[in-house]
Amino acid sequence: MKYKAYLFDAYGTLFDVHSVKERLEDHYPDKAGQISQDWRQKQVHYFMIRQLVDDYVPFDQITLWSLQDALAENEVSASSSVIEELMEQYKKLTPYEEVLKMKAVNEDKELMIFSNGTLSMLEPLLENNYLTSSFSIMSADEPKVYKPQAEAYEYAKKQVNADKEEILFFSSNPWDIAGAASYGFHTAWVNRSKTEWPRIGIAPSYIIENLTKLPQ
Ligand code: LAC
Repeated sequence: MKYKAYLFDAYGTLFDVHSVKERLEDHYPDKAGQISQDWRQKQVHYFMIRQLVDDYVPFDQITLWSLQDALAENEVSASSSVIEELMEQYKKLTPYEEVLKMKAVNEDKELMIFSNGTLSMLEPLLENNYLTSSFSIMSADEPKVYKPQAEAYEYAKKQVNADKEEILFFSSNPWDIAGAASYGFHTAWVNRSKTEWPRIGIAPSYIIENLTKLPQ
């Protein structure tokens, strides 16, 4: 199968959401790792709830609420300036090291991000990492439907000048791969942590260790 377009999830796939730990350690040295894990877990949980009840709020709001709850759950206080600093850090997440190499060897393909993040989060994130010219961005905030809902991938498909079968969707998040695969995209699960694929009865087209091992 010759793919014309590669679509990438952003948080956890192209960018390391736990790279916020550096800023968290400035304020909470003993709890930074736990707060980071709790923040991401709550962020995913909260947008899933809002999608299931069909009551959309933008991802920046979800990210703020999940941060506030992760800090509270770890019994640490946070001034509004610290909260603002940590939210700003979400626009400076570190890209995984192989992202630039992947881009360099795929000049013949359209590289697009399809993320639940808002453009107000994603545009500065790419700009801060000098990746603005490397990827075009699609946000679930346009259709106001979160991945893994099928309508979210349908929106993305309509933006891409390729047939469904010519598109390969990459994510490190099993829930995202399951949604994209159910919709009908070919999918590549980026399994950096070498874990087992969950028993959910939906399987990725490919399982890769990182973005240098792309299926051709
Ligand atoms: C994304 C996160 C939620 O859509 O995985 O980029």
